[in-house]
Amino acid sequence: MSAEITVNSPEQMRELGRRLAKLLRAGDLVMLSGELGAGKTTLTRGLGESLGVRGAVTSPTFVIARVHPSLGDGPPLVHVDAYRLSGGLDEMEDLDLDVSLPESVIVVEWGEGKVEELTDERLQVVIHRAVGDTRDEVRHVTVTGIGPRWAAVDLAVLTA
Ligand SMILES: Nc1ncnc2c1ncn2[C@@H]1O[C@H](COP(=O)(O)OP(=O)(O)O)[C@@H](O)[C@H]1O
Ligand SMILES: [Mg+2]
Repeated sequence: MSAEITVNSPEQMRELGRRLAKLLRAGDLVMLSGELGAGKTTLTRGLGESLGVRGAVTSPTFVIARVHPSLGDGPPLVHVDAYRLSGGLDEMEDLDLDVSLPESVIVVEWGEGKVEELTDERLQVVIHRAVGDTRDEVRHVTVTGIGPRWAAVDLAVLTA
């Protein structure tokens, strides 16, 4: 279960986040990976907009995890920037994400090797800058659903 999307601008990346949000519900974990400046936070911003949560999604400088409560009756968005975690798993465990996961949507930037143990089920989003492409706003995004939760979800809606 996988979808490949070409994104041509920051606005399109936000739009992808908005579309992605429509697939999400409480208990879902989304892992975003990609180099610094790939667009992970930009995508999360669109996701937060569509979920209708309070507060702008930003790149946290000191905070590792930020909770954005829903303005309606939807799940809160927990936004984690694991890139800044030096201590790896121990530090990650201190965040008690396993406690918040059932009632939240958790989005982790750069969590490879750190958060897989939270759940067997996750949506994996990998963002690549186009190699050798002179248009530096082009990104290739691969979205893969892992686990039974995602087996019946049609990720093709993301490409529309
Ligand atoms: N297609 C694109 N998608 C997302 N961001 C883009 C794109 N093209 C250029 N950018 C720029 O790249 C930067 C991405 O920043 P950010 O989302 O914070 O990345 P990350 O969280 O992966 O480090 C922003 O300055 C954004 O304007
Ligand atoms: Mg970021």
